[in-house]
Amino acid sequence: MTKKKPLVVVTRKLPEAIETRMMELFDARLNIDDAAMSKQELIDAVKEADVLVPTVTDKIDAAVLAHAGPNLRLIANFGTGVDHVDLQTARSRGITVTNTPDVLTEDTADMTMALILSVSRRLAEGERLIRKGEWAGWGPTLMLGHRIWGKRLGIVGMGRIGRALARRAKGFGLSVHYHNRRRVHPEIEDELDATYWESLDQMLAHVDIVSVNCPHTPATYHLLSARRLKLMQPHAILVNTARGEIVDEPALTRMLADGEIAGAGLDVFEHEPAVNPKLLELQNAVLLPHMGSATIEGRVDMGEKVLINIKTFVDGHTPPDRVIEGLL
Ligand code: 8YV
Repeated sequence: MTKKKPLVVVTRKLPEAIETRMMELFDARLNIDDAAMSKQELIDAVKEADVLVPTVTDKIDAAVLAHAGPNLRLIANFGTGVDHVDLQTARSRGITVTNTPDVLTEDTADMTMALILSVSRRLAEGERLIRKGEWAGWGPTLMLGHRIWGKRLGIVGMGRIGRALARRAKGFGLSVHYHNRRRVHPEIEDELDATYWESLDQMLAHVDIVSVNCPHTPATYHLLSARRLKLMQPHAILVNTARGEIVDEPALTRMLADGEIAGAGLDVFEHEPAVNPKLLELQNAVLLPHMGSATIEGRVDMGEKVLINIKTFVDGHTPPDRVIEGLL
C-alpha cells in the first residue's frame, strides 16, 4: 500500500515550477486565483492541513492556530520574515516553523541601495517631472540631489541583508556604521570596514543615511520611535526594506513633512497595503509596494527552499530552515 501524501495548503500563487513540483511531491492545495485568504479560510486550512505554506499576507495568530487540527505539524513560510506567525503559540502546539533565508539577501540589499540612490538623487521626482510634461530642459540648478560618496551609512541590524548592503555601500564610497544587538565578528567588521555603535541613539545622530535591516520582533516594534527619529540630523534620510512596524510611521511622516528628516525610501509600511495618505503627498518620500525580494530568480529560490523544508520534514528529518525564536 502506498503511503498517503501529506496535505499541503499553499495560501498564495507561487511560481509555476514550484507549484508543479509541489503537486508531484505532495497532495497540494494551491491558490491559483491568488486571492489572499480570509481569516475563516485560514482557520479551515489549519484544521485540515498537514503542512501550511503561508506568506507575509497571512496572519497566523493564536486565534487561527487555536483551530489547528492534530495533523498540522509544519508551517513552511514562503518568506524570511515570520512576524505574521505567532511563533510562541506554534511552539506550544508542537508545530515547527520554517522560513526561506539567504536566497533573498542579495535582491533585498540591491533594493535598499536602489532606495538610497533614489531618495538622495531624486529619481522618482525626476521621473514624475518628465511624465507630467513639466520638464522645460536642463538647468544648472535643476533637480539637485545629494552626493552619497563620502557620506555615512548607519545600518540598523547587521544580519545577512545588513552585511550585503554594507558590501554594496563600500563600493559606492559610503562609510559603514552599524548597530546590532551583538557586535559582529571582528573579521566581518574588518572586511566591511564597519564601525560598531553600541548605542543606536548615538549612531542615529551621527549618520547621513539610516537603513533598517533588522527583523520585526516584539523587541523591534517601533525601534525607530518618534524620540529616536528626532535624533537624526535634518539632512539625513531613512530607508526601510525590512518591516513597516519597526518605524513609527506617523511620526516619520510628520517629520518628513516638516523637514526634520530630509527624505525616506520605504518598501514596507506599518499597515500594508494601506499607506498613510499624507506620505503620498510628500515629494521627499520614495514609496514601493514591498518588492525588495521581487525577482523571478528569488521567488523560485524561495519556493525551492519551501519544498526542501517540507520534504525534509515529512521524511522525518530536521528541516534546514527551522525558525528558532531566540535567534531571530
Ligand atoms: C517577501 C519579505 O516578499 O521574506 C520576507 O520576509 O519581506 C519579502 O522579501 C515576502 O515578505 C514573502 O513573505
